Amino acid sequence: MYSRIIRLSVLVVSLSLITVNNPLQTSIAFAGIGYVVTYTLIPRLTKSFIRVGLKGKDLSKPPPVYEIAESMGAVSAITYLFLMFGLIPFIFFKYLVSFTSLSNDESISDNYATQYQSLANNRLFPHNKLAEYLSAVLSLQSTTMLGFLDDLFDIKWRHKFFLPAVASLPLLIVYYVDFSVTSVVVPKFITNIAGGEELLQLLNQLIIVGNYIVSKVSGLSFGTLNDYVVTEDSPKLLDLGVFYYGYLASVSIFTPNSINILAGVNGLEVGQSVVLGIIFLANDFCYLFSSNVPQAAYDSHLFSVIFIIPFMGVSLALLQYNWFPAKVFVGDTYCYFSGMLFAIVGILGHFSKTLLLFLLPQIVNFIYSVPQLFGIVPCPRHRLPKFNIKDGLMYPSYGQLQESNSVGKNLVKFLATFGLISTRRDEKTNEITEFSNMTIINLVLVWFGPLREDTLCTVLLAIQLFVGLFMIGIRHTVGPWLFGYDNLSWGVS
Ligand code: UD1
Ligand code: MG
Repeated sequence: MYSRIIRLSVLVVSLSLITVNNPLQTSIAFAGIGYVVTYTLIPRLTKSFIRVGLKGKDLSKPPPVYEIAESMGAVSAITYLFLMFGLIPFIFFKYLVSFTSLSNDESISDNYATQYQSLANNRLFPHNKLAEYLSAVLSLQSTTMLGFLDDLFDIKWRHKFFLPAVASLPLLIVYYVDFSVTSVVVPKFITNIAGGEELLQLLNQLIIVGNYIVSKVSGLSFGTLNDYVVTEDSPKLLDLGVFYYGYLASVSIFTPNSINILAGVNGLEVGQSVVLGIIFLANDFCYLFSSNVPQAAYDSHLFSVIFIIPFMGVSLALLQYNWFPAKVFVGDTYCYFSGMLFAIVGILGHFSKTLLLFLLPQIVNFIYSVPQLFGIVPCPRHRLPKFNIKDGLMYPSYGQLQESNSVGKNLVKFLATFGLISTRRDEKTNEITEFSNMTIINLVLVWFGPLREDTLCTVLLAIQLFVGLFMIGIRHTVGPWLFGYDNLSWGVS
């Protein structure tokens, strides 16, 4: 009853918040709507999901364990996509060209300027941003579909791994047409050390060769546009050309997969996404509330906020059902959807490198997982921690080392020496037979002992939040100092 009244109030307040000429406020309103819709739909859809076979057993609960609905992230994702369609008329400037002015370029642009300025405190986006917006929605939609297909058919790793890069193509093409900046700032310490300049020259030559080959094949030209003015005293730039697009595509492969493998504990998939959302928003608001930020940077971060706020609405509703003890699973659908969202925001918000700082726990988890992901040591189907019925706590889960080759065995010995893994030995031979699965989830249990499932999730989310906020600090203090340049730096020159 109470929950119904709260939902109704959230809905009424949200609807009343929708206004023209205020994208930020309108996206908050849409988040409210997204929350209410997702929260209401999930319990109504669970039976249908189970009926068509989208269900799973919670591996960390005492018997009797019933199957609960899997892939419920689809509800969040689809609600989100619909909301993002609905948001379009409220955040883009309505550009009217009167017929008389169509003959003359100059009067068209005059007309545009007059109309644009006629809106007091205009915060709307111009039309070129609509291409970015639509490409983002398209990429998200295809990635969500990929995740859903994965839930349905359990697609093989080698097949699904590269697909997000294909899904990111619309995004990369809009980036190519509209922004095209492929230069990265070279940290001062690199240009200052002996041989640094020569190294840059060498890299530059390699990039030129790469650009040449790809241009020959595709007919497209790569490189930051020439009208990007670089003065003598500004820091050195390295134009990565076509390799920058390779990097962006890799980011869109990495983020969905990295969220999917930091999973298996109730609340963790959505929880980490919500925490990432908080971190991204905190960073964006640093830009939006600073007085000395260039307009372009302001716009990109407003763009990021507009995408993340409704995402928070649909995710928080899902989290309530997925938190310990989970009533639904979010599925790969949600992991792919949320991972792609962060990739998109980072790419179109023009902070695709800062993005990686915020995803540090995911990166560490990925690197730590590499031996298992690439088959150097065996990787069981599930690496999630092991539930102990007797005390109701989660313990590290183990992989079998006997089946491994000598490289794998030595690697496990090496990691064990540094306490980065826990091992079990054969009583007679004292040989290592098992090793704790290589995820930071298990590592937390190795270091801090057995924990209840919700405590474990909270610890992991707290680490994510702490690292993220710390990285925001690093980004705006050490970053500018290291690179000699930034469009937002705190007390460093
Ligand atoms: C990824 C991980 C796998 C982990 C799994 C759990 C890698 C390479 N893969 O695989 O190790 O076990 O996610 O999500 O790291 N489940 C729970 N409790 C939860 C969430 C999931 O018991 O809180 C179980 C349920 O049985 C659920 C299943 O995991 O049905 C979902 O697994 P799925 O998402 O298909 O696994 P992958 O993404 O392939
Ligand atoms: Mg999964």
